[in-house]
Amino acid sequence: MQKKWWMESVGYQIYPKSFYDSNHDGIGDIKGIYEKLDYLNHLGVNLIWICPFYDSPMDDNGYDVRDFYNVYSEFGTLEDVKELITKAHGLGIKVVMDFVLNHTSDEHPWFIESRKAKNNPYRDYYIWHDGKMVDDKKVEPTNWGSFFGGSCWNYDELTDSYYMKIFSDKMPDLNWKNPKVRQEMIDVGKWWLELGIDGFRIDAVSHLDRARLIDIKNQKDKYPLDWTKFSNLPKVHDYLKILNESLFKPYDVLTIGEVGGQATIEEAKKYAGFESNELSMVFNFDHNWCNNLFDITNPKKLKTNVVDLKKTFDKWQKAFATDGWMPLNWLNHDQPRLMSQYGDYKYPLESGKMLATALHMMRGTPFVYQGEEIGMTNYPFEDVNDFDDISSRATYIYELEKTPDDPVRALKVASLRSRDNARTAMQWSKDLYGGFSLEEPKISNNRNYKRINVASQLNNNNSLLNHYKKLIDLRRFSAYKDIITYGAYEQIDIENEDLYIYKRILDDKVLLIINSFSKKKLTYDMSHFEITNIVISNYKDQKLKNKTLILRAFESIVFEIKESL
Ligand code: NOJ
Repeated sequence: MQKKWWMESVGYQIYPKSFYDSNHDGIGDIKGIYEKLDYLNHLGVNLIWICPFYDSPMDDNGYDVRDFYNVYSEFGTLEDVKELITKAHGLGIKVVMDFVLNHTSDEHPWFIESRKAKNNPYRDYYIWHDGKMVDDKKVEPTNWGSFFGGSCWNYDELTDSYYMKIFSDKMPDLNWKNPKVRQEMIDVGKWWLELGIDGFRIDAVSHLDRARLIDIKNQKDKYPLDWTKFSNLPKVHDYLKILNESLFKPYDVLTIGEVGGQATIEEAKKYAGFESNELSMVFNFDHNWCNNLFDITNPKKLKTNVVDLKKTFDKWQKAFATDGWMPLNWLNHDQPRLMSQYGDYKYPLESGKMLATALHMMRGTPFVYQGEEIGMTNYPFEDVNDFDDISSRATYIYELEKTPDDPVRALKVASLRSRDNARTAMQWSKDLYGGFSLEEPKISNNRNYKRINVASQLNNNNSLLNHYKKLIDLRRFSAYKDIITYGAYEQIDIENEDLYIYKRILDDKVLLIINSFSKKKLTYDMSHFEITNIVISNYKDQKLKNKTLILRAFESIVFEIKESL
């Protein structure tokens, strides 16, 4: 296996709008990231992934790109980006940016041209189709649903035809079959790499190919959402091989594809196996929903399915054990907050540290999502107008259609799953607006910032923040660096409903990682192991009686061990 810098890195994901507002206009910005680089350096990360900062009308917070060669003015300027890259590099921090290949904004000049006429030179940059006649009425070419609700086609009067858009109406899908589109995107990529970017997180990459335009058989929904119509189809791999050959390989950059589209292990390996010549790694989301979130409205009733979660980790760790690499992340800007999803509000410190250890000791490149390191929580939405996110509003409408006389239920369900939970203002201090800005944030600002913030945790050795710092330090600089980075992963006791236990093994070194997902007192038989060191833990001491380990609420310990037969 060829070792790469990104295998030995720890990443941090930044959502620019809500990270830090340097010019105090209520919106985060690039200079804000610049100002906080010292904090990130102190935390120990050496790789940042910044969500889109391209010029955009912000229908989907920047994933709807209007100009790939420019910066959204409220975030700053190209000069700011250059300064950010220079400072980051000076600190040894690599910079990865979002690369949006699947769609543009409908305000992008290519789309403005494309709409104009059927014979416009840009027509084939997008996926246009005539409507279909059903009972003398013109309807969409297929009944396929889109991710953000409704049809995946939008009607355009100008040429009396439909364009495909699997996200919002304002995000028309690019036509990757067109070699000109591929070349345009290669040019965009080159331009940013020449500017000094170290790699890309590639948005919605699994969707670049489409199935044949045949209706989905479904009596229930008018526009059923069937991922297989536009996910992980064969041509995606051809396109990625082209991008790899002409862009990724020559610049030797890190590429992390977002393959949320229910990719199987086989698919994921095609994308990111060492021999695949496509991407360096792929994010999957299988571990994000291992609870009963989709069946409840009361957050207090949320219950993690620990065995499901463990099996999910096991599946992916085994799949990428030798011939590929994977990122490790608990959440991103599209998921609820970790503390609200798998943590426990009564034991925030213990459960937060345990979750961090459980993830960071696995094999792969860990990514911390902004605010995760201080245990930020979901936002208490009170009204549908509190949602900024287009898909949260769509979820609310969808749920309301199910129970029109119970808007409270619809709001609760949409709130629990809302992507806005992760997009609230970063909580830097107990000052007004959590130290995010001096101006009232234009995004939600969780009122618990007085209790949960960076400043109060920075100098507290026992804080969650410092636990993250210790984990990062262990991985990057300690005597355990090699085993944590490259050691083999082996899960034990997989059916245990409370404990997630795995080993990392390198040569004759073994680490045993024990994580309790329960608030109950538990025991674990340690008679097969000889403990040689305690590497990190979330309680001051350990309770071991006659070779039986007694675990308190959410206790987590990493032992160095020798196995006795
Ligand atoms: C995935 C991104 O993570 C999400 O935020 C966005 O809405 C969609 N792709 C569309 O770009």
